[in-house]
Amino acid sequence: MFRVTFLGHQGWSVETDDFHLLIDPIVTPYFRNIDFARSWVYPPRAIDLQGSGSVNAIYLSHDHEDHFHIESLHHFDRSTVIYLCGNMSGAAERILREMGFAAVQRLFAMQSIALGKQMTMTLYPPPPSPTEHWVLQPYIEGAHPRESLYNPVDCGISPQFLSMLRKRKIRRMGLTCLANNTQHLPTPYHPTRLLPDRRSAFSNFMPASVLNCHFGFNELPLMDILTIVGRGFMDELNPFGVYKEQSQQQLAAILQQYSYGESLIHGAEPGDVFESRGGKMILTDTRSPLVVGSPEADAKMAEAEQKDLDFDPLSYEYTPATGQLQISDSEIETLELHLAKLALKIACHRMGMELISTNLSAQARPFQEARLLLVLKNGQSSLYYEYWPSFTEFRRVPAAPAHLLELPGLYPHGYECWAADLLALFESDLSIYQIIAFKNRVWSPQNGMHGNYNFMNVLNDLFAPECAPDITYRLYRKAYDRCSQNNRNSGGRNQI
Ligand SMILES: [Fe+2]
Repeated sequence: MFRVTFLGHQGWSVETDDFHLLIDPIVTPYFRNIDFARSWVYPPRAIDLQGSGSVNAIYLSHDHEDHFHIESLHHFDRSTVIYLCGNMSGAAERILREMGFAAVQRLFAMQSIALGKQMTMTLYPPPPSPTEHWVLQPYIEGAHPRESLYNPVDCGISPQFLSMLRKRKIRRMGLTCLANNTQHLPTPYHPTRLLPDRRSAFSNFMPASVLNCHFGFNELPLMDILTIVGRGFMDELNPFGVYKEQSQQQLAAILQQYSYGESLIHGAEPGDVFESRGGKMILTDTRSPLVVGSPEADAKMAEAEQKDLDFDPLSYEYTPATGQLQISDSEIETLELHLAKLALKIACHRMGMELISTNLSAQARPFQEARLLLVLKNGQSSLYYEYWPSFTEFRRVPAAPAHLLELPGLYPHGYECWAADLLALFESDLSIYQIIAFKNRVWSPQNGMHGNYNFMNVLNDLFAPECAPDITYRLYRKAYDRCSQNNRNSGGRNQI
């Protein structure tokens, strides 16, 4: 038996007669490791672990919250083996051990491991991907030819994996899944109805390019099934409603025409079950008992659809993710201590070098020492900080009107968010995603300049879990403490 079940978003269950593996399981209807807001999996669903039998092991592919969710992991028996992608943060390993998981093992690129007597898992490194380069992609083989699952996890196809295919070192391509990150969206945080001219079934280029690999170059073995997963999610902080991939089923239907009947191209639904029968992987008509409905998530989605309809981009003004409009003087002092450390980190980032070399504007106007203005909204006014790259420090400046009026002219880069949100980020109460997705503004770089970086992306780099292990560990620890507290209140684990 080789059974693969799609659990929704990017979670998978893989079962043989003697082993049950889960990949990146989100068992709650939502994810996020912060307290201020949740993201609800689309299409809405929950996972009923009562019907799962024993889970022997979980593979975690990277630290992103839609793959590494403390509350979901809290539902599992602590004897479950945890295989960590070797590139994941030390914070992830530390919190898992503190949660009581006794068997936590890191696996590295090209490493293979036996899972029971009938399965092996090999991890492949992804192609270059600025925000996903920590991922390792599992390729799982069953005991019989064509029993396999290849999961590229948020990335394109691994060059090493393609190379192994070409050399015939991998001969089986049963089921391949491709995730939402590999499907091109014009801009992910706006509903496509606002961009009607850019809405296209062919915007999903990666599944098409995978098909090209497999059908255009006939030396590669054919896939039995290519399935497209990760249809989106609904962030509670998202002012635009649900972020979802609307053309997924349509795309599958179109690509199916180009498969010459050799492969099934499929947009997966949570609860889909794939099995090997007659020497190939097939989509069964069974629905997995693991996947159940969630009335709470259904209601959240309906609420978000209405939010989408009501959203007016012209009158929209963003509010703090934390809900805190103003911070106190002592909190400002704490924030400034954090900014001093951040200044040093920026100096070590490639943006630091770029700021130094940004001498002239597109109109050949010289920039002074300050090359970045940080505007932190605080109550009815704002706090202003200039970043001085050669001194590697932020300097507070008064809110002179001239600065505001000449913002793009005086500074090549500018960034605005709420002071309370930035403080919460430093204090491990918020993740960077919640700020950069919905709660900031950025000016950068000026037209005609040679800049490659903007401050929003720099923050995303510097606060990635693998780059900020201390901050991330505290965030994970707070998430786990909340789970434990809820657990005490509700009287036990395994209540989803
Ligand atoms: Fe990711």
